[in-house]
Amino acid sequence: MSFRIVEQATARLNRSELSVPGSRPELFEKAARSAADIVVLDLEDAVAPDDKDQARRHVVSALNDVDWGDRAVSVRVNGLDTGYMYRDVIDLLEQTGDRLDLVMIPKVGNASDVYAVDVLVSQVEQAKGRTKPVGFELIIETAQGMANVDEIAAASPRNESLHFGVADYAASTRARTTSIGGPHPDYGVLTDLLEGEERAYHWGDMWHYAISRLVVAARAAGLRPIDGPFGDFSDPHGYRAQGNRSGVLGCEGKWAIHPSQVPLANELFSPSEQDVAQGRRILEAMHKAQREGAGAVALDGRMIDIASIKQAENLVRKADQIRGSAG
Ligand code: COA
Ligand code: MG
Repeated sequence: MSFRIVEQATARLNRSELSVPGSRPELFEKAARSAADIVVLDLEDAVAPDDKDQARRHVVSALNDVDWGDRAVSVRVNGLDTGYMYRDVIDLLEQTGDRLDLVMIPKVGNASDVYAVDVLVSQVEQAKGRTKPVGFELIIETAQGMANVDEIAAASPRNESLHFGVADYAASTRARTTSIGGPHPDYGVLTDLLEGEERAYHWGDMWHYAISRLVVAARAAGLRPIDGPFGDFSDPHGYRAQGNRSGVLGCEGKWAIHPSQVPLANELFSPSEQDVAQGRRILEAMHKAQREGAGAVALDGRMIDIASIKQAENLVRKADQIRGSAG
């Protein structure tokens, strides 16, 4: 461990994050009754330019009037390159109460973008005497954002999570795809010519680097890495595969753009009973080893050592957190 201890962001369940267009208030109650850990009311790209003012009013009312239960509520504001962001932040912070947990900032390009929103939020919080500080969720979805991801992650104590915005990222990097978050048939390898053997084509994951990079930046700053949307909401198998691959890499959750994706995300990002039971066995075995002065020992014919304690503790802590939320 480095001498510098990284402070961890506010602990929050973030397995599923359901996005709801701010211009469709008829969906708000449905989202509030869903099993989503976090609901994001969107003022950005799911809202057409002519509807921006109306959507902002809907979102302010929803934060004041809808019963959101225990879940966290976030609002995705417009980008810093638009004329809407300042009004989004000011109206939200001035006209709503403690039900606003998080502000999601899209298309963050560098640390100054976060700083600018932080200044605005801090000013209104202070002027209005708000006592519950609002956290930030940051979407990494441009080449610039990915190039500056480390400084972005460390830009504000309000930062809680980094999100991979796959569609805008594809557009920004000019990736050759039009799907939202799926694999691409052209991204793969053909096995070499070997005498007498058939050649096989293996699909690869074109988002592997981006997600891994985001996970490292988030974890190094004590933030949650979250995988973004999967647009084909009629394909639960595709959603599962994408969610599992980002979970294996370290992500804590995934967006849902449709209610049918919420239970999938909750399941994919909850450790299985089997994993948790194995985690508890590892902890027991390691505590015994420590009492006996051993560093590495064998469990079921496999090596476990002090690093195994941390992995097992992460699993068990997550299971306890989920039980605590009854989710
Ligand atoms: N939140 C809450 N409820 C939603 C919802 C959402 N995001 N999306 C759909 N629903 C509801 C519908 O109202 C419908 O309810 P009903 O059974 O009571 O009629 C039910 O879920 C099934 O919806 P369905 O008819 O399959 O979808 P749709 O055609 O109405 O909408 C989308 C499809 C993609 C337009 C819609 O899901 C949506 O707007 N998603 C969010 C988009 C977004 O936020 N994008 C920005 C982030 S990438
Ligand atoms: Mg986007």
